[in-house]
Amino acid sequence: MAIDAREIVRRCRALAAYSEQAGNTTRTFLCEPMRGVHADVSTWMREAGMATQVDAAGNVRGVYAGTEHDDANGEPRLFIGSHLDTVPRAGAFDGVLGVMLAVALVESLDGHRFPFSIEVIGFSEEEGVRFGVPFIGSRALVGLVDDELLSRIDSTGASVADAIRQFGLDPGALASARTTDRAIGYFEFHIEQGPVLARLGLALGIVNAIAGQTRADVTFTGTSGHAGTTPMAARADAIACAAEWILAVEGDAKATPGLVATVGRIDATPGAGNVIAGQCVTSLDVRHVDDAVRAEAIDRLQTAAHEIVMRRGLDVTWRTRLDQAAVAMDSRLVDALTRAVARSGAPVLQMPSGAGHDAMILAAHMPAAMLFVRSPGGISHHPDESVLEPDVAAALAAGREFLNELAHGSVGPRRATSDV
Ligand code: HGY
Ligand code: MN
Ligand code: MN
Repeated sequence: MAIDAREIVRRCRALAAYSEQAGNTTRTFLCEPMRGVHADVSTWMREAGMATQVDAAGNVRGVYAGTEHDDANGEPRLFIGSHLDTVPRAGAFDGVLGVMLAVALVESLDGHRFPFSIEVIGFSEEEGVRFGVPFIGSRALVGLVDDELLSRIDSTGASVADAIRQFGLDPGALASARTTDRAIGYFEFHIEQGPVLARLGLALGIVNAIAGQTRADVTFTGTSGHAGTTPMAARADAIACAAEWILAVEGDAKATPGLVATVGRIDATPGAGNVIAGQCVTSLDVRHVDDAVRAEAIDRLQTAAHEIVMRRGLDVTWRTRLDQAAVAMDSRLVDALTRAVARSGAPVLQMPSGAGHDAMILAAHMPAAMLFVRSPGGISHHPDESVLEPDVAAALAAGREFLNELAHGSVGPRRATSDV
């Protein structure tokens, strides 16, 4: 059965029901509801003619055989994937749409084979919500899950390795999750998550680069005290201090072209209304397509934090959780994808991505490319996140032309006989 855009959207919305919280979509690394996602996605992969497995990192993987098999050098393989985890109170399409489009693309081949195999991957973790470090699933595919990462702990004190074991998987088998095939490339469909395509009235965008990002926990430590008896001049108020710094963060980003900086989480203790906060942990997320600009901004924000705590009589600690360089997509794949979008009849636009993606990790190990699908209203990381069915259909059509490009064009093996 050909899977059309309506069915793709239906599947995304069906998967959104698998959540750790009633009434919204929250699905973090190897949480129990992920089992339902694994079952549904594996079924859809098998119906599309793929052999499936769940690897030791919790990635759902489906392989669609090609016509070439070279034991000596491994099989030429195209990876198409995205992530199945979500942020808290997420929409239904961030990550999941990319996996559903990939399954539908393979299903649409209807048994036609290419001179390369196709592996569709639903990555287990990209957002970094549970352990503060993103891209666990895609790191496992390229052998980058090390003991330091396995020892990271979540808010309950469970480590990444514990989470893998509790899900019934074996962290000792992570080496088997690493691909040994001859990767001809990684391709990811993803919603844009921003307003650019919507403002231009375009369905699709070809990603040429992904912004670099720094994530850090910045902790302000003062002195808790009685809200009623402590004179204002005698306070070391951690929330007030953090608030002054947060406004400095916002001001710096507003004054720096192309820079975005966000404090998305504040954890204050002891957290009672009649107690001056003694400690305030804030999350910082800073991004820019130019790594030098991002590094200079981080320096300024660290200087600002130290100046504010000195003046107010508090302490500050800075723990970097991620320092991910900006990543350019592979120029030959971008050219092939540009030709494919044009051949599919859609207008062509190349654009950078402000959001991070698994393609950032894979791009260091294989040629990578991404195709954005319009986000109506630019809404994402929000329950109102949506897609338009005609845009999903356009992405599927462009994906088919992209496979033809790879089979015949300048990238990948060239022994195809006919288009799909
Ligand atoms: O946060 C991001 O950039 C992506 O949604 N993981
Ligand atoms: Mn996201
Ligand atoms: Mn995403």
